[in-house]
Amino acid sequence: MKNQIGIEAMAVHVPKRYLDLSDLAAARGVDPAKYTIGLGVKEMAVADSGEDTVALAATALLRLLEQHPIDRTRIGMLAVGTETGVDHSKPIASYVQGCLELPQTMRTFDLKHACYGGTAALMACADWIASGSGAGKVAIAIAADIARYELGSPGEPTQGAGAVAMLVSDDPRLLTLHHPAISGVSSADVHDFWRPHGRREALVDGHYSIECYLEALSGAYRGWRAKAAEADLIDGDARVPSESLARIAYHVPFCKMAQKAHARVRAVDLEDLGESTTDGIEKESFERQVAPSLALPRRIGNAYTASLYLGVAGLLTAEGSSLARRPIGLFSYGSGCTSEFFSAVVGERAATSALARDVAQALEERERIGVEEYERLIAAQASSSAPAGRPSSRSTFRFAGVEAGRRRYTRA
Ligand code: CAA
Repeated sequence: MKNQIGIEAMAVHVPKRYLDLSDLAAARGVDPAKYTIGLGVKEMAVADSGEDTVALAATALLRLLEQHPIDRTRIGMLAVGTETGVDHSKPIASYVQGCLELPQTMRTFDLKHACYGGTAALMACADWIASGSGAGKVAIAIAADIARYELGSPGEPTQGAGAVAMLVSDDPRLLTLHHPAISGVSSADVHDFWRPHGRREALVDGHYSIECYLEALSGAYRGWRAKAAEADLIDGDARVPSESLARIAYHVPFCKMAQKAHARVRAVDLEDLGESTTDGIEKESFERQVAPSLALPRRIGNAYTASLYLGVAGLLTAEGSSLARRPIGLFSYGSGCTSEFFSAVVGERAATSALARDVAQALEERERIGVEEYERLIAAQASSSAPAGRPSSRSTFRFAGVEAGRRRYTRA
């Protein structure tokens, strides 16, 4: 068994265009404070026509390999977590392999369980390396999605899009997982959010989905805490066990959810200590432990599987040097539902990695669009024809239409 497993390098890719949610609020006749304060969201990324999940995932991986060049024959596995695939059989991973002309000597597959798929991909890669099956090779995990709800529905302000590519290896310069098995899981057969065949937009029982998320979090966190205690990872001086973690990044469908999640984790800790479930420092604890991971999700919106990892990327970018050698917690939730709470240690070189440039550039190069253009792009994404005109997307790869039943992609 290998001891050190985790993320050696990561790259993010987000669409160039975004909608300011105060514009959406005005168009829908909603008080903007409901979005900005009530849901804690500010902007959401809008995919361009031709910019589907393959284009986002392949571009994220291309950026990763440009910033962190490796001998491509060393890649032994490519796992993609997504819930917005483009085919019922052929995985995004295989399109990505084709777009980047990666060698044939690798496993390629997708993993699906709503927003948990990215974590399933990361864990599959980590387990493969830890078990020795990788035989010295490295693995790539990609989380990529375009979140879509019906226009005018309560879920509309919680859309977004993006992809995160992660190089998983036994040289985890960014993040070393507390692996194997220092994680807690919680799953249940629930209908909180789902997308039947033939639908582009998700169906959701919104308020129930929040309850399911929090219930799953309670179970997964308790599971992690028990294993962390056995492994001596809980700081005896911490006021509550969750304070042993310098930061906690939660799955962020909208930023207010992270606030609810953190309040739940503290309540679980306090309840299990036999105390009242509030101790008056929730706000301070949220600002210190959680808020730094919300910078990107607030600007991108929900990117389903990629959402947690956008949070982690933003956190490492903003605080990598002060967090070096310190433990952080990660909570991944996939509706339906499954969830996992796990932890990792930030690497010495996290702050100096190419990731910081990548994140800054992704945000600087963006362009604000109005509601009319947003609605036009949403409609255009449904087309199976090659998108007309020059793309304004930052994606290097682009959907180029269906020929003889086969999806084609071009490289800019
Ligand atoms: N000023 C300030 N705050 C306001 C306000 C105003 N004028 N009006 C309302 N608010 C507050 C409300 O009090 C509420 O806050 P609390 O939750 O703290 O009470 C918040 O704004 C939202 O208001 P509503 O609950 O009335 O909003 P809604 O019913 O229209 O929709 C939603 C909210 C259910 C989250 C909806 O956006 C939705 O369905 N989103 C998609 C589902 C989702 O994201 N679920 C999360 C858990 S599932 C998951 O995590 C997986 C995933 O990625 C999908």
